[in-house]
Order: sequence, then C-alpha cells, then structure tokens
Amino acid sequence: MYKAPRGTSDILPKEQAYWKHIEEKAASLCQLYGYQPLSTPIFEDSQLFARTVSGGTDLVDKEMYIFEDRSGQKLALRAEGTAPVCRAYLEHGFFNLPQPVKLYYVGPAFRYERPQAGRYRQHQQFGVEAIGSADPALDVEVIEMAQRFLLSLGLSSFSIQLNSIGCNLCQPKYIEVLKSHYSNYIAYLCPDCKVRMLKNPLRLLDCKKASCQKIAETAPKIPDYLCPECQAHFQSVQQYLGILGISFKLNHRLVRGLDYYTRTVFEVGPQKEGAQSVLVGGGRYDNLIEQLGGKATPAVGFAAGIERFILNLKRAKIYVPLPPKPAAFIAYLGEEAKIEAIKLAAELRQVGLAVVKAIDDKSLKGQLRQANSLEASHVIIIGEREVKTQSVVLRDMIENKQKIVPVTEIARVLNREQKTR
Ligand code: HAM
Repeated sequence: MYKAPRGTSDILPKEQAYWKHIEEKAASLCQLYGYQPLSTPIFEDSQLFARTVSGGTDLVDKEMYIFEDRSGQKLALRAEGTAPVCRAYLEHGFFNLPQPVKLYYVGPAFRYERPQAGRYRQHQQFGVEAIGSADPALDVEVIEMAQRFLLSLGLSSFSIQLNSIGCNLCQPKYIEVLKSHYSNYIAYLCPDCKVRMLKNPLRLLDCKKASCQKIAETAPKIPDYLCPECQAHFQSVQQYLGILGISFKLNHRLVRGLDYYTRTVFEVGPQKEGAQSVLVGGGRYDNLIEQLGGKATPAVGFAAGIERFILNLKRAKIYVPLPPKPAAFIAYLGEEAKIEAIKLAAELRQVGLAVVKAIDDKSLKGQLRQANSLEASHVIIIGEREVKTQSVVLRDMIENKQKIVPVTEIARVLNREQKTR
C-alpha cells in the first residue's frame, strides 16, 4: 500500500481547523500592518535558490529537491519564500512603486531534512517581506509583527533572540578574526565544522555539537566588530524595540541557516530547545535583490512554520474554533420518502442551511448513527406517514425531544433553532 512520502503528511479533516485558524490570523495580521498577499510558484529555476541562499549552507548542499523537466531545465521545489518574492518583485517592476513594498505569503516549502517532530520535508510557511527600505524601524516592525502573531494565537511563553551579523564591509573582517580563533582548535572540530571553516565560517557559531559549542563560547563576538553604520543600525533596532516594550535577548551566536542575511537577524521560539523548536526566523537581507540582478535594495522579513505553531498550540492546550456542524441530518424510510428527502435537502441548501442527507437506504438506526458522528444537532426524519401529511419529524439530538413540523415550515424552524443555539 502507498504511504505519504517520508517527512510529509496528510492534513486530515479534524486537523484543518488549526490550519484555517492560523492562516486567518496571519491574513488579519498582515492587513493590520499593510502587507499584501503574493503567491509564487511551487517550483523555480534551481539557480534562484543556489545563488541566493548560497553555497555552503545545508539547504543548498544537501536539502534542495532539484529535478529536470522534459526540456532539460533544472528546477527546484521552493526551498524557502524570500528569494521567490524578490524574484517576483523584480519581474513585476515593484521597484517602481512607492517603497517599501510589503508582501506576505502562505505556502509550502520543501527541504530534504531528517524528519522528526517539528521538522518535515514539506512544511508550510507564513512569511512577510518588506522590500525597499533600510530604516531600522522596519526591522522592528517585522519583529513586532512576529510577536503579535504569536500573541494573537494565545502563545505567550517564548523569547526573541536578536543579533546583527554586519554588512559586506564589516562581516569579512569579523570572519577573519573568527577563523583565526577556530584555527587554534581545528583538531577538536566536528567533521561538519571542518567544512564550515572553509565554506561558511559564520555557521561555526551555530554548531549543536557540545565540543564545538565550547569553542564557540569563547569566540570573538560579531557585535564587537560591526562598522559604525551597522553598529548605529543595531542600536536603533534595540532602541525602538525598547520603546515598544518588546523584550529580546541578545545572542551573539545567532547567525541563521541561510546565507543572504545582513545586519539584523532574529528568531522566536521557546527557550532552551532544539533548532526544530524555532517558530519564527528572519532578518535583513540588503544584498539579495542586487544579487538577483536588481539595483541595491535593502529588505527585511521573517517566516513562520505553521506545523510548529500547531504543535505549540496543542502543547499549550489552546483550542481553535471548530467548523460549524450541519444544521440537520435528513433521514428517510422508503422510496417515496427518499424522493421527498432529496427535494427537501436541495431546498434547505438553497436557503443556506447546511444539511447532510442519508444515502444508500440504510436502516433508521444506521442513519441516526451517522447523524451522531457528524454531531448534527437535529435530525429530520421522513417516513411514509410524513410523505402523506407533507410534514417531517424533527428530532433535537441534544435535548432528546422530537416534534412534527410541516414541510413548508422546516426552514424557518431550523433557522430559529440555529439562532438560539
Ligand atoms: P527558515 O528559518 O529557514 O527561514 O524557516 C522559517 C521557519 O520555517 C522556521 O523558523 C521554522 O518555523 C519553519 N521551518 C523551517 N524548516 C522547517 C522544516 N523542515 N519543518 C518544519 N518547519 C520548518 C526562511 O525560510 C527565511 N526565508 C525566513 C525569512 C523571510 N527571512 C527573511 N524573510
């Protein structure tokens, strides 16, 4: 028997309420801050990710789903949302609009990772991108949005970690200092860090191995090496966060897993848990649009993993609104009653009443069992006598009472019952 591919899962009907709730909260948050929706394709030219996310990150080296289409073009399943949004920004000439252009998206991302709780090969991201301004107030706006998003879902015990990783000017100088620190410990580095040393030294700070973490603890701190402009930017971000009363923790080892970041980086998650517990990750990416062939255009954004939000809502026993139950289940007994039931179901749906009609000529017991499993508050029963008298039996499944109602009255009665529930 076939199964969903490893690291993917079906979202069953009983789970859908979580998805709908979170996506509705995301949309209203974006409306509140003036971000407009944008949908990009599920696959893109593989170079879009390879160039921008950059070599030396796990995402490019090991995790992308790359395939050739029938014309031989190399494509990649969307690995993350930022590069596609920037591609669309350039393709549609959004640089001609008043800046910054503020966009958001909800959609799947694909990464060939080792699956575990909170880490999947297909996951759903809600992301925001504000493109066209270097104002630190915009960094603070997206951090504030991330915080408001969690709070709007009832998630309150989390922390915001903040760092600045500098710019083209100061970051290379810091990397030299960092490499020289690590060169004293080469023999003690894990095999991955030996590769990072050559390909992506900043990521050395992020290694989860205990032996490497010891070396990271004593490493020089990037905020001490920022150029005056990056330093001023970082100070303003902290100052504005303070003005808004948003608490954060400075973490000089926070570097993020993608390579396009400059200056501000941040993550939101529960304290002291593994990487797969990070709920929101983001930061500034002032060089990305230029890397894609546009003019130098600063930008900042974040993405949130919906599955991780659902895990946290369940852990915190936060319940989400359930979809409405049917107003009534229509049961029938006999062929003539079946025809009346078909007609009545169509009439009630026509006036906007959600009804489920029995199918397959089951016994009354079987039909009532189905009504119960649908949690219908009322059952309409039509038998031979009801056909003759142009009426129905209306059974209230909650109060366990029943009454005879003329067919012409049933829509009005159901409507009234719904309002009083
Ligand atoms: P990211 O940190 O790679 O950043 O992913 C964003 C969020 O997606 C993570 O914080 C996490 O909640 C979720 N996530 C990532 N990988 C997985 C996975 N394998 N399974 C489940 N959830 C996952 C980005 O993708 C950047 N584009 C964020 C950004 C937007 N930066 C600036 N703008």
